[in-house]
Amino acid sequence: MIDRIAQDIQAQGWSYQAKVLDRQHLESLSSLFETDFGPARVGRNEQKQRVEEIRGDWIKWLDPKDPPEELSIEMKFFEDIKLEFNQQFYLGLKDFECHLAKYPSGSFYKKHLDRFENDSSRSVSIIFYLHEEWKPEYGGELVLYNKQNEILKTILPEPGSVIVFISEDFPHEVKTCTHERRSLTGWIHTKNLT
Ligand code: OGA
Ligand code: MN
Repeated sequence: MIDRIAQDIQAQGWSYQAKVLDRQHLESLSSLFETDFGPARVGRNEQKQRVEEIRGDWIKWLDPKDPPEELSIEMKFFEDIKLEFNQQFYLGLKDFECHLAKYPSGSFYKKHLDRFENDSSRSVSIIFYLHEEWKPEYGGELVLYNKQNEILKTILPEPGSVIVFISEDFPHEVKTCTHERRSLTGWIHTKNLT
């Protein structure tokens, strides 16, 4: 699978893979979503603030050096992507950061880039969808745009699927959902984070 992802990245800069995680595994993650979430904020450092008109999700940052055991498959995936992309594309990827996210019914995340204006080290974005069920009428699609702001792809967040993309090349948004939407988002950086 990592092979297929690398081919997609080479060809188009993003890759979506369905059914990477099975139902049983998704069920085993539900307790991780029960506690310690805080409102996601926008901006960096002192400028950080809650702006629900921009994003309404709740997040829980994880320590990649001491991740919850339940997420070992996902952590290994981040490492495997890093090795493969460094070998194939010489991206110079180093550390990654990640957080769990839940979008309550009615929430969304407006179009944005994952790179902060004055920090260009976020290079690869990876998102696993961790809810156990998702129907088209639940909404919550991820919409990928190109740099000209044309829609490239609208992706329904199917349970257990993953999307990988080159952070700086794809503005994206999360459409309003009508059911709680759960994910793990990771970014691999071109610098060490500690
Ligand atoms: C993000 C993000 C997209 C998604 O967390 O930066 O854009 O599909 N998430 O959850
Ligand atoms: Mn994003």
